[in-house]
Amino acid sequence: MKLWEGRFTQPSAKNADDFNQSLSFDYKLYWHDILASIAHAKMLGETQIIPKDEADKICDALVNMLADIEKGNLAIEGAEDIHTFVEAELTKRVGAVGKKLHTARSRNDQVATDLRLYTKDSIVNVCGHLKALINTLLDIANNNVQFIMPGYTHLQKAQPVSVAQYINAYSEMFLRDIERFTDSYKRTDVMPLGSGALAGTDFPIDRRMTANLLSFSEISQNSIDAVSDRDFVAEYIFCCSMVMAHLSRFCEDLVLFASDEFRFIDIADTYATGSSIMPQKKNPDIPELIRGKSGRVYGHLVGILTVLKGLPLSYDKDLQEDKEALFGAEDTVLSCLSIFTDLLQNISFDTKRMRAAAAGGFTTATDVADYLVQKGMPFRDAHAVTGQIVRYCIENNKTLDRLDLFVYQSFSSLFDEEILQRVRVNKSVEARKVIGGSARSAVRENIRSITRRLNRMFKEE
Ligand code: ARG
Repeated sequence: MKLWEGRFTQPSAKNADDFNQSLSFDYKLYWHDILASIAHAKMLGETQIIPKDEADKICDALVNMLADIEKGNLAIEGAEDIHTFVEAELTKRVGAVGKKLHTARSRNDQVATDLRLYTKDSIVNVCGHLKALINTLLDIANNNVQFIMPGYTHLQKAQPVSVAQYINAYSEMFLRDIERFTDSYKRTDVMPLGSGALAGTDFPIDRRMTANLLSFSEISQNSIDAVSDRDFVAEYIFCCSMVMAHLSRFCEDLVLFASDEFRFIDIADTYATGSSIMPQKKNPDIPELIRGKSGRVYGHLVGILTVLKGLPLSYDKDLQEDKEALFGAEDTVLSCLSIFTDLLQNISFDTKRMRAAAAGGFTTATDVADYLVQKGMPFRDAHAVTGQIVRYCIENNKTLDRLDLFVYQSFSSLFDEEILQRVRVNKSVEARKVIGGSARSAVRENIRSITRRLNRMFKEE
């Protein structure tokens, strides 16, 4: 039986039904659809749009239905979408009364409401995963404040940094991700129910009551916009895309650092893979896969933006395409966050190798230039003098910390004993005490600040 059979003289074709249906993926909304229906029915009863006892009957049946689905006693099948499924099952259970549930409601405001409820929960869930990841990063950072690694720009050794400072950089990214999701939550937390098909409803419904029952903070203010707005879906997928970008960059670092050329890290056997042909191989498949899966999520983002572009107001069936994009992005981001958090706990750092690598590549050359500046030389001149010293080192196979003082002095009379200390990597790292810098005190402060901001973000919820 079709919802619209009154108007039609012929049944729809089987393949048209198959093409039109969304139950195969929007079954995921069952919880939120039933919850929204319970709130709607309650409100219909309270406002006496339908008799109170009938509303109660509907609510009881919906609660039981939810329990049956949860217990696996009710299979979600045999309908066009989750909304028609719930209504048909309800009518099966309570008879004609069930047909009153859809009073003062359209599937257009219903689906938008369900999806917003779903997205709100999903945001909380993803943020929980991000929090667990940051806590893992904080543990790693706490254990590595004193260790030194080379920092890179252009993937060329640039300056020595603290391992914890490097780890904290990723915590900062994931903190911003939580902030971004939290901000998008505000715009998601708006209830469209009561907008009807597009023009509103002529029943004296109480939208605030329904919104309160469903814990929506706001009520949509324009029914045409409310049924057609999927900005929150695009925003959600963008937030997921940003998480994937951050994960992917981190994974790229890990893949690089696990290579024989770097050997900064070792991934435990439990999270690594071997080769079918080369017995010596230990491959970083997990970070590679996460890096690869960022592509899917970006695909969903482009997908939803393309669906939205050019849609005439208000609801169009194109909007049904919003769900697979959202669910797809959600599945990918959740699975990547959780495996990545486990992976991180199974990585060991070769701090000796990192320290040795940090000493190579003239990473303290900036310290030499800064030293000359502090002795009164203009920075540009200091840069040029230091460049000459580096060239001397390259030509004579020396490093900055193995040069005799008289060699330094042959380039500038401003050099004294102190320079021999300044060019050591640990001195270089310690010298950068500025907020956000590499010195241990600054890195510890960064850890405290990340912890503070993380706690604040979750307290405000
Ligand atoms: N399955 C539909 C969707 O996901 C539900 C809304 C249907 N509305 C309609 N006017 N056909 O968008």
